[in-house]
Amino acid sequence: MKKILVTRKLLQLNEDRLKQLYDVKLNSNDELYSQKKLIEMSNGCDGILSALTDKLDEETINKLPKSIKILSNFAVGFGNIDLDAAKKRDIAVTNTPEVLSDATAEIGILLILGACRRASEGIDAARTSNWKWSADYLIGKQLTGTRLGILGMGRIGKKIAKIARSLGMIIHYHNRSKLSVDQEEGANYHKDLKSLLIVSDVLSVCCPASKETVNLINKESLEYLPTGAVVTNVARGDIVDDEALIDALDRRKVYAVGLDVYKGEPNLNPGYLKHKGAFILPHLGSATKQTRIAMANLATDNMEEFFNTGSCKNKVN
Ligand code: GLV
Repeated sequence: MKKILVTRKLLQLNEDRLKQLYDVKLNSNDELYSQKKLIEMSNGCDGILSALTDKLDEETINKLPKSIKILSNFAVGFGNIDLDAAKKRDIAVTNTPEVLSDATAEIGILLILGACRRASEGIDAARTSNWKWSADYLIGKQLTGTRLGILGMGRIGKKIAKIARSLGMIIHYHNRSKLSVDQEEGANYHKDLKSLLIVSDVLSVCCPASKETVNLINKESLEYLPTGAVVTNVARGDIVDDEALIDALDRRKVYAVGLDVYKGEPNLNPGYLKHKGAFILPHLGSATKQTRIAMANLATDNMEEFFNTGSCKNKVN
C-alpha cells in the first residue's frame, strides 16, 4: 500500500476515501506545517496531497525524501510549487482543473458586483443602522453596457464571461492565443495586455500565477486603464503589485477593487483597508461543499492514476 501525506484537513468523506486507498498521514488539527515540518512529515511517503498554503519552493523540494514521486495539489493553481525543481527531482505535480471553475467564477462575479455596487460600504452602514435612503445614497456603477476585460480566458474566465454577458457586460479578453470563434462567444480578443486594459472599465484577473505573470498588474499597466476603472482579482495575489494598486485607488485612477486573493495570505496589504471601496474576501473562490469534495476527489484520482500508470492527465510539469 502506498503511503501518503495529506498536508491539510479535508472534508470527512474525502479523508475516509483516502484511508481506504492508502496508508495515510492526515492532519486532524489542520496545523499549518512549516517547510521543515512538511519535510519531516513526508519521511517514508510516496506522495504528498498538498494545498495552496504549502510553499513548495526549490529548497523544500530538494530536501524532500527520495521516495516522494508526486505532489498532488489540492487546487487548480500551482504557483505554490516550483515546477522546475520538481521536474529536476522527477516528481510529478498535478492540479484539480474544471471541478472548481463554476464556484470560482461565482466569486469572480461577486467581486465585480461587490466592488461596482459599493457592497462593503453598504454592509457597514446596514450593520450599524447608519444610513438613510436617498436618491443619491451609495450610488455605484451599473454593469449593463460596461466593458469587462478578462485577463486569462481559461475555464474560469470563460464562465465569468458567460455570467457577465447575461448581466449586459461587453466582454474583452487577453490570452496568449486567440480562442476559436465558438469558444469566444462574441468576446473581443486583445493580443496584448495594454490593448485589453485600455478598454477595461472592469478588469477581472483570472490568469494563473507564474514567473511570467508576477506583478503583471503594476504601476505602468494600471495607467492604461480608463480613469475610474474597477480592478478585481480571483486568481492569485502575486499577479498584482499591491502598492501600485493602492496608489491608483488613492489617486482615484481606480474607483474600487474586488479581491479574493492576496500576496502573503492570510495577511493583506493594510493599504487596502483604508479604502471603503475595497470589497475584500478571504480566498473563498472554490469554497462550496460540492466543489471542495470534487477537488479532493480529483486530487485523489490524480494520485491513483499516477501510481497505477506512471503518469496523469492533470500533470502540469
Ligand atoms: C484556488 O485558489 C485554487 O487554485 O484552486
